[in-house]
Amino acid sequence: MNKLIDILNWSEEYLKKYSFSKPRLEAEKVLAHVLGYERIALYAYFDRPLENEEKDEVKRYLKEMTSKNLGFEKVLKNSTDKNISGSDIENHQNSNMELLEKSCEYLEKHGIANSRIETEYIFAHVLGCKRMMLKLNFSKKLSDDEKESIRKLLLDRVKKRKPLQYLLGYEEFFGYRFNVNESVLIPRPETELLVEQCINLLYGVKNPKILDIGVGSGAIAITLAKEMDESAVLGVDISDAALEVANGNMELNNAKNVKFIKSDVFSNVNYHEFDLIVSNPPYIPEHEYVGLMPEVRLHEPKLALTAEKEGYYFYEKISKEAPTYLKTGGYLAFEVGYNQAGKVRDIMEENGFENVVIVRDYEKIERMVIGRKK
Ligand SMILES: C[S@@+](CC[C@H](N)C(=O)[O-])C[C@H]1O[C@@H](n2cnc3c(N)ncnc32)[C@H](O)[C@@H]1O
Repeated sequence: MNKLIDILNWSEEYLKKYSFSKPRLEAEKVLAHVLGYERIALYAYFDRPLENEEKDEVKRYLKEMTSKNLGFEKVLKNSTDKNISGSDIENHQNSNMELLEKSCEYLEKHGIANSRIETEYIFAHVLGCKRMMLKLNFSKKLSDDEKESIRKLLLDRVKKRKPLQYLLGYEEFFGYRFNVNESVLIPRPETELLVEQCINLLYGVKNPKILDIGVGSGAIAITLAKEMDESAVLGVDISDAALEVANGNMELNNAKNVKFIKSDVFSNVNYHEFDLIVSNPPYIPEHEYVGLMPEVRLHEPKLALTAEKEGYYFYEKISKEAPTYLKTGGYLAFEVGYNQAGKVRDIMEENGFENVVIVRDYEKIERMVIGRKK
């Protein structure tokens, strides 16, 4: 039982058992207060799941109401909890909401897309709670330190155009948390599709051996290792700083079947029986670099972005050398730039790969090229 409507019904039943008059209304008041919604708006969010913390808060109010035989408003008014009265809570909620709105306007005015979501993430980060739990945490007064941290993060976002993920220090990928800093590329949602394709390709393969070239944060390698716990994954990168982040993420996600080594593409790879080689290599042509968004150009590592030969250097090198490292029938799977798929398919076919297919991403852009060693 997790959905708002279920908790509401359950709360009503609970109050009914204690012979509360208007148990539905009382239950609505509790839920509306805990979730920070207008009572009437509750039904618009009827299937929103509640966090454990929120459910505990609802239960706490219900227990207090039934043990003292008081309606919700009285409980709130008498609340000695943390010596904060009901009207203080309301005042804090209002002033915190006002600060959130102003922060949101500030980001929007300076051209940050998704300003609302980014602001909420920043507040949640500083308050140490999940974004969904912000409203609940708004019932307490923000300290001066918390306000200062929020101000600093907003300034870095606007003045330095620092991506939100570097400000927060992490990104979610395939449901796993990956810590990031400016020595690794922020894992992108479209790369999750590449991981999905890899999992499908290896369906039915026993103890698959996988090589990920250019691991960065370790997003692809670690996710594959976690999703296929019978696999053995080797990840390589030329950057020591990236390898440090990847190793940290390996520990963070408790991935046992993955290993990272420093290697210039295949230079330090000695195994020659991989079932799959996957890579999201640097692929932006040098001349396009200056035109990148400031968030990318000023903060993401150039080593992770650009490649020689008009962006095709790694596709050519990996396609040429991969057959020596793959089993017969093994797969090579690439993520590619928005206009590169056709040429990458040609490169793979020239190097003896068969059944080469192009796969599109969520935005219908040709994003992945996958082929099989003959
Ligand atoms: C586009 S990023 C991909 C990061 C990660 N796999 C992801 O999808 O989020 C490319 C990675 O390739 C690494 N790289 C660049 N040149 C390399 C080389 N010669 N050999 C191995 N890795 C290299 C970069 O350091 C960077 O981490």
